[in-house]
Amino acid sequence: MRELFDKIKTLVVYDADKEFYAKVFPDSVPRKDLFRIRRMTNADLPQVLAIERKNYPFPWEEDIFEDCLKGSYSCWVCEELDRVLGYCLLTIGAGEAHILNISVDPAEQKQGIGRKMLKHLIDASRGRAETIFLEVRPSNIVAIALYEDMGFNEIGIRKGYYPAENGREDAIMLALHLF
Ligand SMILES: CC(C)(COP(=O)(O)OP(=O)(O)OC[C@H]1O[C@@H](n2cnc3c(N)ncnc32)[C@H](O)[C@@H]1OP(=O)(O)O)[C@@H](O)C(=O)NCCC(=O)NCCS
Repeated sequence: MRELFDKIKTLVVYDADKEFYAKVFPDSVPRKDLFRIRRMTNADLPQVLAIERKNYPFPWEEDIFEDCLKGSYSCWVCEELDRVLGYCLLTIGAGEAHILNISVDPAEQKQGIGRKMLKHLIDASRGRAETIFLEVRPSNIVAIALYEDMGFNEIGIRKGYYPAENGREDAIMLALHLF
């Protein structure tokens, strides 16, 4: 029985199949294989907001996400079997893409989800934008390490861009040129 099942596993290529086997045989599919990026909907907002509030001292409120979903923004979640693990938002216009938010549940960080979502945003921008921009707090060394590793370069500083406990904090602006 086990041998037969292992053989079946080698033939499984589609996410839907993997999800099926994960439900029937929970230990049979590596977790990472179940991480799936899909478009965000309003139904995701409770989970998205819970992560947003855990990750940021000045989180976005629900209406900002609703406006992004209503507008022409590109909004995505990374989920595992219907549970949202992270989300990311992008806007594209006049040949420029701008990453507005990328965020992974603190309990699920350091497993490659942030990198997977960033790669997804870069791929989604190809052919539609020449450059991708984003802002990051100078204190956010984890995010900066990820962005630089993915090829982003510092192009400037936005003074007093972010709210902070004692006033405002500058933002580092990063850019990635797409070829
Ligand atoms: C930034 C963030 C999205 C990264 O998500 P993640 O899923 O933890 O990242 P990954 O597991 O894909 O790691 C990617 C890279 O980030 C860097 N990184 C991740 N965790 C790190 C840590 N604790 N210390 C240093 N670098 C780290 C590494 O370069 C890592 O690459 P590696 O695994 O090859 O070493 C996540 O930390 C997060 O949600 N932070 C809170 C929200 C936020 O600050 N978003 C960015 C706003 S600009």
